[in-house]
Amino acid sequence: MTESIAAELATPTFLADPYPVYRRLIAQTPVFWLPHSNAPGGMWCVARYDHVTFILHQAPIFKDTSRIAPPDRLTPLDRAMLQRDPPDHTRLRRLASHAFTPRRIQSLEPHIEQMSLELLTRIRERSTADFIADYARPLPIMVIAELLGVPFEDHDRFSAWSDQIMTGSDSVLGGEEAARASQEAMASLVAYFTSLIERRRRQPRDDLISALIAARDAEDRLSEDELLGMCVLLLIAGHETTVNLIGNGLLTLLRHPDQLALLRRHSEYLTPAIEEMLRFESPVQRSTPRFAAESFEIEGQRIEAGQQISLMFGAANRDPAYFPDPDRFDVTRHPNPHVGFGSGIHYCLGAPLARIEARVAFSHILEHLPTIRLATDQPEWKPVTWLRGLRRLPVRCD
Ligand code: HEM
Repeated sequence: MTESIAAELATPTFLADPYPVYRRLIAQTPVFWLPHSNAPGGMWCVARYDHVTFILHQAPIFKDTSRIAPPDRLTPLDRAMLQRDPPDHTRLRRLASHAFTPRRIQSLEPHIEQMSLELLTRIRERSTADFIADYARPLPIMVIAELLGVPFEDHDRFSAWSDQIMTGSDSVLGGEEAARASQEAMASLVAYFTSLIERRRRQPRDDLISALIAARDAEDRLSEDELLGMCVLLLIAGHETTVNLIGNGLLTLLRHPDQLALLRRHSEYLTPAIEEMLRFESPVQRSTPRFAAESFEIEGQRIEAGQQISLMFGAANRDPAYFPDPDRFDVTRHPNPHVGFGSGIHYCLGAPLARIEARVAFSHILEHLPTIRLATDQPEWKPVTWLRGLRRLPVRCD
């Protein structure tokens, strides 16, 4: 049974439309064991919203991979806050928030607007575009690179590394070549950040890396390893996900002309529309790894201490018990308690920035591309199951 689910999750049909499978899982097999290539044996997958939020808030779980993996297999990402538990997690998150302040994020908005308008002007001049390559991919990389203080000429390399790391980390699809490319990209990124941190240590600037170097909490500060882990995490967590929100969001709007027309007439729906995009085509479909700290039972299944657990955010966001008519895209949906940014202590640190980027992107698209429409009815999805994002999105806007 679970072997057949594993096979199903790796098919092009699933990548194009995972929701019929999620619907069946929620109804029939909400907690199941999925064999896969990365963790010993496999992992428990949890599809229902109430189970996902139970595990995020109450279950005995831990994230720290150093408790189970040999030290030589740990990457800088394993040392960053997303794979740590309190009190380390609390400490790292508090130090990060000294540098990643609402003021710093707000101050990026005029730059985001300017970059967005430049990209849209080029698209308008040509009247056709691949919206991923020409807009959804460059905008977030410019934003995260500017935030971190990465020079403009390095943006393309940065974007490619981030893409390779995310694609190669899919435990369901596996693939040796992708895993190797991912490791190489990680090594390049680490070497790059090591040298950039060194430069900023000598000559601080008004950027996030300099602020992270300076961040202090009483006598506490980030170690070299923690600083590196933080930079890698911010790039990886903040880039691909935002590309996917803009790409998936635009595809969804263009596939629902009635909702697009409603949004054009009522710009006050932009905020709920973005939340609905996060729910309807969630950029992060499955959580990062969690592990049972002790054995516990859920839905009659016994999860043993040390076993890996994956939360299916994309499925939970379509759970009919929490979202009436879950397969309807409704820009006015309220309430919308989606878990697109996770929940609990690891709730997305970059959510305010991602929301600003999405608001700028969609308000500009609505205003400056009044005739935008799909140039294909079969857009190509990236071969990744834990994230959801388009490889290409051909559009016309003449
Ligand atoms: C639409 C865009 C984004 C989505 C959908 C998203 C989604 C998520 C999700 C689901 C988690 C929790 C993962 C888990 O619990 O397993 C998370 C955590 C995180 N995200 Fe985001 N994210 C986005 C953008 C960003 C941005 C722009 C940044 C920073 C520049 C960022 C930084 C982080 C960090 C640092 C964490 C770890 C927080 C912690 O462990 O306490 N994210 N994100």
